[in-house]
Amino acid sequence: MKDEVVKTGFPTEITEEGEVKVLVPKLKAFVTSPSQYAPSKAPVFYNPVMELNRDIAVLALQVYQRMLNREVSICEPLAGCGIRGVRFAVEVEGVKNVVINDISVKAFQLASYNVQMNGLSKRVSMENEDANFLLSRYGAPRKRFDAIDIDPFGSPVPYLDSAIRALRNGGLLALTATDLAPLCGVHPKACVRKYGGKPLRTEYCHELAVRLLAGCVAVAAAKYDIGISILFSHSMNHYVRLYATISHGAKRGDENIKKMGYIFHCFKCFHRQPLKGLFLTNNHGKCPECGSKINVAGPLWLGKIFDRRFCELLKEEVNQRTFKHRKEILKILGLIKNEVDAPVTYYVVDKLCDALSLPVPPVRKVVDALREKGYEASLTHFNSRGIRSNASAIEMKELLREIIRSRGKF
Ligand SMILES: C[S@@+](CC[C@H](N)C(=O)[O-])C[C@H]1O[C@@H](n2cnc3c(N)ncnc32)[C@H](O)[C@@H]1O
Ligand SMILES: [Zn+2]
Repeated sequence: MKDEVVKTGFPTEITEEGEVKVLVPKLKAFVTSPSQYAPSKAPVFYNPVMELNRDIAVLALQVYQRMLNREVSICEPLAGCGIRGVRFAVEVEGVKNVVINDISVKAFQLASYNVQMNGLSKRVSMENEDANFLLSRYGAPRKRFDAIDIDPFGSPVPYLDSAIRALRNGGLLALTATDLAPLCGVHPKACVRKYGGKPLRTEYCHELAVRLLAGCVAVAAAKYDIGISILFSHSMNHYVRLYATISHGAKRGDENIKKMGYIFHCFKCFHRQPLKGLFLTNNHGKCPECGSKINVAGPLWLGKIFDRRFCELLKEEVNQRTFKHRKEILKILGLIKNEVDAPVTYYVVDKLCDALSLPVPPVRKVVDALREKGYEASLTHFNSRGIRSNASAIEMKELLREIIRSRGKF
């Protein structure tokens, strides 16, 4: 990185990410203590930590473009300094045009500078208005985009309806949600308000976050007689991300509603049970295993949250790139490949052992022991200590006791 003096009126510097060089706020200049969150202190939003998020977005758009096998149009309605949209235009082959927008004048100016600096003025157009207003302008049939990437502060929900309307039939919607406090059950009321579903602070709350977001998209799309298919999702420390294609037709919407449901969870014995259906008749039941009060998350998406073929294509694509985070992305994709068809929710070995007052065995050992006994077992990218399995909570606990009894073997 080297410093750059440009007439933005605030300190900036040139950064390199992927294949582009862009001018970004000099984050160090805007914080007075290391505990401050620098990206939100700068006059224009820029978060270097989201590079991996943007890398995967580039891969996903490239895979999607190859699936369509024609030129695509992309919109990034909440762009900050423009780094994501500029990367799409430069790094994704077959991009006809990108519309980059931000409501902030300073962000618009900085992103416009970055578009020019990268020689993209012919293919990238800049807008400076409210994202919903912009998307609504592109809602008419022949104006719609092939792909829209919503990467906001907090929740993408305020932009869902207009994004769905501004997508072509078959279009790709990419969403980031950073409001994990609601989605992971720290602020459940906020989650119910925003996502229309109840979260739970379980050990698999990040999966619930993806499912609550996916459910919210499915319900939003269904009212326009539109269905969704989830191609990919991933979870990182402070956000979850979702990639879904939309398809027009009331039947598609109906099929999606059938994939909505609830997950019952017992905090005492770890029993969990998905249940399909949008309307619960009785949610005050007891845990069938231990008789304790049962808790419920949802309504949320119980359908697939990854597509095997799309994951394989992402892997092929990343292998052709020299991303800084290539190894990390391959690791995430490797884990996801194994959880594509695995049961809903995962156990966290440490949490089970803690409840049983047992020492914690290596996760790999537990996976092997489950498979030896004929159960399905796979790791999950959601939690490095997590295991997806068709074993019940009782069976999991019994197996952990057995492993510890024969601990001489590890
Ligand atoms: C998290 S930042 C975007 C980061 C960017 N996508 C990236 O990858 O670096 C969110 C941006 O949304 C903009 N924004 C907030 N509300 C908006 C609205 N209603 N319409 C358009 N932009 C908005 C903010 O100015 C901010 O730049
Ligand atoms: Zn129970």
